[in-house]
Formats: sequence, C-alpha cells, structure tokens
Amino acid sequence: MPASPSSVPRGPLDGIRVIVGVCAGIAAYKAAHVVRGLTERGADVRVVPTQSSLEFVGTATWEALSHNPVRTSVFEDVDSVAHVRLGQEADAILVVPATADFIARARMGSADDLLTASLLVTRAPVILAPAMHTEMWEHPATRENIDVLRSRGVHVIEPASGRLTGRDTGVGRLPEPEAIVQFTQSVLASGERARDLEGSHVVITAGGTREELDPVRVLTNHSSGKQGTALARGAYVRGARVTLVLAGASVEPPAGVEVVRVESAADLSSAVRRLEGEADALIMAAAVSDFTPETSESKIKKREDESGLTLHLTETEDILRGLVERRAPGQRPRVICGFAAETGDEHTNALAHAKRKAQAKGADLLAFNDVSENAFGSDRNELTFLDAHGEIIGAASGSKDEVSHAMLDHVAELLTRDHG
Ligand code: CTP
Repeated sequence: MPASPSSVPRGPLDGIRVIVGVCAGIAAYKAAHVVRGLTERGADVRVVPTQSSLEFVGTATWEALSHNPVRTSVFEDVDSVAHVRLGQEADAILVVPATADFIARARMGSADDLLTASLLVTRAPVILAPAMHTEMWEHPATRENIDVLRSRGVHVIEPASGRLTGRDTGVGRLPEPEAIVQFTQSVLASGERARDLEGSHVVITAGGTREELDPVRVLTNHSSGKQGTALARGAYVRGARVTLVLAGASVEPPAGVEVVRVESAADLSSAVRRLEGEADALIMAAAVSDFTPETSESKIKKREDESGLTLHLTETEDILRGLVERRAPGQRPRVICGFAAETGDEHTNALAHAKRKAQAKGADLLAFNDVSENAFGSDRNELTFLDAHGEIIGAASGSKDEVSHAMLDHVAELLTRDHG
C-alpha cells in the first residue's frame, strides 16, 4: 500500500527551500552529496549551477538529485521572472563550492547569471563554502572579499586543510559534505541572531571519554558527542573562534572549528588546562568518566577458575569544578558552563539533583537535561538553564542545533557582563 502523506517521515528541513549554487571547481562533485544530504532531511532544493560549472557536473545529475528543474541563465522562464522569484522564495542560499571568481563577483554585487542575481534578491541567509588552491585563498584580494562579505552577514565556512586537486596540500579544501549540511542546519536554527560571538574564543568539550583497561578494552559511556558538536557549530556560525576538544566520538566534527582529539579523562583535563587561559568561554559538554581503572600493560586473560574479575577504579579529577576554583576574579575563562544529565530516584527528582549540582560546581551556567527517557544519540534535546545558585534562568527544547543557540544566547549575555 502506498504511504499516505501523513505517514511520510518528516525530516528536520521539511519544506525548507534551499538554493544550492554550484561553481566551476573540481569540488563540484562533492556538492552532489550536499544536495542529497539536504533532500534526505526534507529540504526542497533548487540547484543553480554557474554555466561553466556544467563542465564539471551536468544538469542531469542536479535534476535527478534535487527532483527539480535546473536553470543557469536569467533568460530562462522569463515570463515567470525566475531570476527574482527564486531568490525571493528561498529560505537559504548555499554556494558549494564557492570559487575565488564567484566570491569576487558576489562581493561586487554582480547579477550576470541566475546565481548572482538570486544572491542580490534574497533576504535569506547566504552560506558560502569556498574551495580553491591555497594561493588563491590566501591572496589579499580574496581575503578582502571574504571580510567584506562577512561584514554583510554572509556566512563563510572556513575551508579545510588537506590534499588539493593536484599533488599539493594546504588550506582550501572543501569541508566534508555532511559538515556543510549540518552547518546549514545550524544557520537556519540560528534565526535572526547576529554574529554576537565575533572576537571570542569558545572552547567546548564533547563526546565521551574512554578509559583504557588493557591494550584491547576500554570503559566508556553512551555520549554521542552530538550536543557538544552542535554547540561548537553554533558558536562558529555566530562568529566565534572555536576549539572543540573531542573525546572518543565518532560524530563528524563541525566545519571551521579547530579539533583537539582526546581519549581519557586525564587527556581531557590536560587539554582543558592548556586552553583555559585563552578561552573567553569554556563549555564542558563532554561526558567525563568519574572513575578510571589502572591500565594493564598486557591483555587481561580469562580466569581458568571462573572466579571473575574485580576492577579497582579510582576517581578522576572533577574538571569543571577545578576550572571554577582556579579562576581568579576577572580571569579567563570569563564564562564557564557545564551540563547535568540527570535521572530522578526514589528520594529526589532530576531537577532537584541538577540544582544541587549547579550549586556544588559553581559554573556560571549549567544546562540540565532529564535522561530518564534516555536522550543519548537523539537529534533533539530539552534543556533547562540554571545559574550558579541553582536558579532556573531559561529553558529550550528542539533540535540540538536549536537548543545550542538558546544556550549560546546565555553565554553571549554572560560574556557582556563584567566578571571583575
Ligand atoms: N565533569 C567534569 N569532570 C568529571 C565529571 C564531570 O568536568 N570528572 C563535568 C561534565 O562535563 C559536566 C558536569 O561536570 O559538565 C556534570 O557532569 P555529571 O557527569 O552530570 O556530574 P558528576 O560531577 O560526574 O556527578 P554525578 O555523576 O555524581 O552526578
């Protein structure tokens, strides 16, 4: 039986109209994965390639992937004023890859093809994912064009470093398609918010630590790293320099952020100590193991006598509490945030546990979520924000990108306060 419209699963971008502009670069083939990622999440995608990009990927590919007709010129569909309508109706325009030439034309306000015309018409967010050779990316002309576009509110995803088209490696590589799609989701979730974290360095820990038991075994937890990476993406979208300390997570790190990979609670603590002096805000979203075993040099063997194995675990350092205790008045990190994933028990409900934790840890902001229903790995979350006294100062529910922006609103507000 065919699925009725109401039983068709709804994606997080259901009905959102996204124009995907494609420029003439070898990375154009990666835009195919971006288009697929957007349509799979329910977006209504219109691909607008530049004429010369069709040398790399043709219209048949774009029409098949987007399920929509493809136009490049302002002289097609003239009767329906397509060169204006597309841009007016879009909820976002994403250009992937954005070449140096396209970036220059966008800065100039050219309107000599359907893509640049759409850029001039739209009032929706514009996202550029540049890809080019390092020399072109670093050229003062490109740097200046990017600065001007950013000052106009255009979102530019910093290219990644790595293998380029030829034998060379360097900055200029297109970030992974999944990271570009997720960046777009975060921009859409940010709504009308401005680049209010520009000039701030935000350090975020995410994922679950892994404590080594022996060369083949680890003790870890269910953290997917999705909430912490959504926060990192959100802070980058809002203009911050972001360092993500990622513990053992398999989640794709966001585009544009610096990533420090760690394994154990002790590694995470060292990374935090290294970074805390340069962080304006530090958010502890990682699920840090409270206990660690003594690591055996060799693989622990099965007991012949079936006596079982007793592990002796010692407590790890409370990194969040240490951060708060070390900070002298007026010092960095100016804003320290933590999380409290709680369940209720027969004596106390989850919120009461969180309030107590907020007071005990003394962080400027604590985000509480009730994990009685087990939210691990989910794409949605429900957070209640508590201050250092355990008082509720806000709440948010929605996608992990949406709740991240709500949390970052509090961070931005705290950063403007004087901690002296
Ligand atoms: N945290 C930390 N260092 C640890 C354990 C946790 O910095 N060794 C941080 C987490 O990153 C989170 C906050 O403290 O921001 C609360 O973590 P949680 O596991 O909920 O609390 P615990 O302090 O471990 O207390 P308990 O497990 O007893 O509830």
